[in-house]
Amino acid sequence: MDVSTYRRRPHLWRAEAGKSDRRVRPSPLSVSSVISLGLGSAGRRPVPVTAASKKGLLVTATKEPPALTPDISSPTIRKANRRSNFPIIDLYKSSVGKKWIMALTGIMLMGFVLFHMIGNLKMYLGESHFNEYAEFLRQLLVPIVPPTGVLWILRLGLIGAFALHIQSAYALTRINHKARPVNYKSPRDYVAVNWAARTMRWSGIIVGLFLLWHLADLTWGWANPDFVNGNPYSNVATSLDRAPVAALYILANIALGFHLYHGAWSIFQSLGSMSARFNPRHNPLRRGFAAGFAILVAGVNITFPIAVLTGVVG
Ligand code: HEM
Repeated sequence: MDVSTYRRRPHLWRAEAGKSDRRVRPSPLSVSSVISLGLGSAGRRPVPVTAASKKGLLVTATKEPPALTPDISSPTIRKANRRSNFPIIDLYKSSVGKKWIMALTGIMLMGFVLFHMIGNLKMYLGESHFNEYAEFLRQLLVPIVPPTGVLWILRLGLIGAFALHIQSAYALTRINHKARPVNYKSPRDYVAVNWAARTMRWSGIIVGLFLLWHLADLTWGWANPDFVNGNPYSNVATSLDRAPVAALYILANIALGFHLYHGAWSIFQSLGSMSARFNPRHNPLRRGFAAGFAILVAGVNITFPIAVLTGVVG
């Protein structure tokens, strides 16, 4: 029906409008057809009041039609940070700064697990060697500093690195979630990105929980009924002789291996991509280093509970 027919017979238009009442949701087609009929221009003809128009669902001449194109505006991802007087704090508040903190604290923690693993190898040399090594760490730089002084400085550095590592991981995860409230469209991207992110999350949580147990077990002695102060060799032997505890150590070290692999690889990506000399052609080498480091640390650590269970140590 053309415009002139509707002008001559307004009851037909009313009937049409009554039908669209049942259609409820206006589609771009109905909007454009109303406009093309010339009935969309304000002031021409009174528009019948229907249930749908009361709800604001019917497109009428007295109302702005809804946008014909999909809403492509994105929500504000993050409010701009207010500048402080300290550039280092401004850097930390930015995503780039957090990635740097993650990477630098990650390197410190990688250094710790590597040296801890090398130190633990002394276990294979026997009780006296292992206990002497532990005592050597306590006596570092004595008498310039009091006993365990250097150890405590190292411990505080380690605690600080650990806290900053977790805090920036949490903050970066939140920023990522806010930046991508909608899932990836391609299942391939989704799988690739989320596998790495999820692996880091679960392995990080397992390693963190293991660490609490590990300290209660071998440093404070709460979780080991046979704990002997100042005799780490005997403590390792009596603790890992319990099969569930040995299994826990093995599981935690597998999680540590995954965490180290993804972590080392991400460090290269975070720090490397900010450098003009970053060459993606060396990525296989970087992956090789990340995998080698993870397998070395986790693999050697796993030998300790196996050695205790099989009687090689103890
Ligand atoms: C099977 C593997 C491991 C063994 C046999 C082992 C053994 C030990 C022992 C014997 C101590 C006490 C040292 C002492 O008091 O003199 C200790 C402390 C500690 N371990 Fe492990 N460890 C292992 C894996 C790990 C892993 C994977 C981590 C980190 C994720 C870790 C982190 C620590 C920390 C933070 C301390 C406390 C250091 C200190 O207070 O000076 N350990 N470990």
